[in-house]
Amino acid sequence: MTRPITIALTKGRIESDTVKLLTRAGFDLSFMEDKGRHLIFEDQAQQLRFLLVKAPDVTTYVRHGVADIGIVGKDVLMEHPTGYLEMLDLNFGLCKFSVASTKDYQPNDHKRKVIATKYPTVATDFFNQKGEDVEIISIQGSVEIAPIIGLADAIVDIVETGSTLVANGLEVYEDICRISARLIVNKAALKNNPSVLNFIKKIEKMVGTEEVPFT
Ligand code: PRP
Repeated sequence: MTRPITIALTKGRIESDTVKLLTRAGFDLSFMEDKGRHLIFEDQAQQLRFLLVKAPDVTTYVRHGVADIGIVGKDVLMEHPTGYLEMLDLNFGLCKFSVASTKDYQPNDHKRKVIATKYPTVATDFFNQKGEDVEIISIQGSVEIAPIIGLADAIVDIVETGSTLVANGLEVYEDICRISARLIVNKAALKNNPSVLNFIKKIEKMVGTEEVPFT
C-alpha cells in the first residue's frame, strides 16, 4: 500500500487558511473538524495525512522526509533555509519583518547596536547586508520587552497588525521584507512520487501567480 501524501502543517492561523485553500481546490477536509487534542489526521480515500506541528518543526519533518510537503511562514524558512524546495507562495498569512524600537532610538548615531530577536539568522543577514556590525541577542518570545527594559537597542520581529508594537510604545524604524505562507516539498518526494507533484499543481491553480503586497 502506498503512503498517503503527508503534509506538515503549521498549527493555528496558517492551518485554518490552508484548510480553506484545500477545500477550494476540491479536497474534502471535513475529517479535520472536531480536532480535540489530535495531532495526526488521515483520510485513506483521498490518500492525505496531516501532521499538526509548530512552525519551526515543519522544515524538520520535511527535511527528514517523514513529511512530503510542509506549509509554513516565510519567516521560518528564512531562519531555516536548507533541506527542502520552496514551491509556492500561498498569499495568506501576510505580515512583514521590521526593525522596531522605542521613540528615542537613534538608528544613525553610529554606535554599535544590540538587537534582540527570535530570528537571529534573519537579523544577522539584514544588518550584514547593510554593512552594519551589531550584537544579536536571541529571545524566544515577547521580544518587544527588550528595548523597553534596556536589554537591546532595537528588535527585529514580525509585524502583522502592528498592535503589539503600539501597545508597548514601540514604532517601526525600517521594514526588512514581506512574509507570507509558503508550500515546501521534500526533494526526493517531488522526484519519486508523482502524486506529490499532482497535489502541488492542484494547489497552484488556486493561489494564482500574483504576489499580494503587504503594506
Ligand atoms: C508575534 C510577533 C509579535 C506579534 C506581532 O508574536 O513576534 O510579537 O506577533 O503581531 P501584531 O503586529 O499583530 O501585534 P506571537 O504572537 O507569535 O507571540 P510571541 O511574542 O510569544 O512570540
